[in-house]
Amino acid sequence: MNKSILLLAVPIVVVAAPLAMSRNSTTPMSEVTETQAVTPLKNAFKGKFRIGAAVSTAMLQGQDDGSTQLVKTHFDSVTAENAMKPAEIQPREGEFTFANADKLVEIAEQSGGSVVGHTLVWHSQTPGWFFQGKDGQPVTREVALARLQAHIKAVVGRYKGRIKEWDVVNEAINDGPGLLRQTPWLKAVGEDYLAEAFRAAHEADPDAILVYNDYNIELDYKRPKALELVKKLLDQKVPIHAVGIQSHWRIENPPLAETEKAIQEFSALGLKVMITELDMGVLPTRYQGADVSRREAMTPEQMAVMNPYTKGLPDEVAVKHGEKLKEAFDLFLKYRKNIGRVTLWGVNDGHSWLNNFPVRGRTDYPLLFDRALKPKPAFFSIQKAAEAVGK
Ligand code: G3I
Repeated sequence: MNKSILLLAVPIVVVAAPLAMSRNSTTPMSEVTETQAVTPLKNAFKGKFRIGAAVSTAMLQGQDDGSTQLVKTHFDSVTAENAMKPAEIQPREGEFTFANADKLVEIAEQSGGSVVGHTLVWHSQTPGWFFQGKDGQPVTREVALARLQAHIKAVVGRYKGRIKEWDVVNEAINDGPGLLRQTPWLKAVGEDYLAEAFRAAHEADPDAILVYNDYNIELDYKRPKALELVKKLLDQKVPIHAVGIQSHWRIENPPLAETEKAIQEFSALGLKVMITELDMGVLPTRYQGADVSRREAMTPEQMAVMNPYTKGLPDEVAVKHGEKLKEAFDLFLKYRKNIGRVTLWGVNDGHSWLNNFPVRGRTDYPLLFDRALKPKPAFFSIQKAAEAVGK
């Protein structure tokens, strides 16, 4: 798999035809019968690690109760896909919109699950008011830092004892040269914005698990920077407890060998590892990662090649998807003592962000449930993987 994360302006796409796959390791879609007992997925993972799902705002607003019921039945951890990001929860200074986050906590408490607060500090989906004065000019470091701390205090404080885990800082590492991404927070506060964010979250809820979350930090090109960053924070006695490996992968070649090294190396620092945003895309792309600022531009001819499954997912691809997710979970289960949680970044394929990234308007199939909310072969393959190991 090309490790390059840079996009060509107009990608030259070579689409490998789906390989003819053995059908012995995963139940193909056509053989998954309605009567096949679908026991709650969380039961298989109990005592190993929490199995979670990202919950869309549509679900929180009652527009997808079918998926919400799947969350209550199958998952014991929930993450707000968007509802708790700064732009959604404090769109204007002092104006908080907690209704959706409150609903997420209610869903979790109804189903015995736990909540992950995603995310307190990010360069995306963060309103400009954090960084600008009334005159539109950049505020001083002191003002920006005070706003960062006030946001965290208000949000973490509201859910103290009810949300036990926070993605405190998201995607602070630069994909290009240098350690830190040139974000508005870095420009406004300085390099210590990360440490200050973790300290503020810890002060607001000393019992919460505090996570640094990022994409591609399992990969050889970026993992050293992530290790450097968390070591710096640990050396400064910053209260950081876990690293979140987002894991936005594709079936062509999920980076499991590099992920194993990452789990070993982050664990060696005394940190828990969370797999925070797992999805396994089946569509061809040369892009790897989740830098939302990047998009692929496609001609209609390329779209035909890049978007091959608009009429449904061929069984052999569904089987391969199940096998690749099983391989991933076999690795996670091997390190279940080091991993606290594995969260799928969505419930059903129809709601996945990958239907619009890196190309808008595609039909991807990255998750455990199909658009009809039926469990896919991947659901059964990871359930079998979990049932095959002890606690
Ligand atoms: O809510 C508005 C809606 O009112 C409007 O009509 C619509 C028109 O485009 O946009 C809606 O907002 C969208 C939002 O999701 C809620 O659906 C934004 O455009 C869209 O950009 C946003 O995408 C989210 C993305 O983060 C934003 O960066 C994805 O759903 C979400 O899955 C994705 O998740 C991120 C993680 O938080 C961090 N790691 C990477 C991951 C993937 O980018």
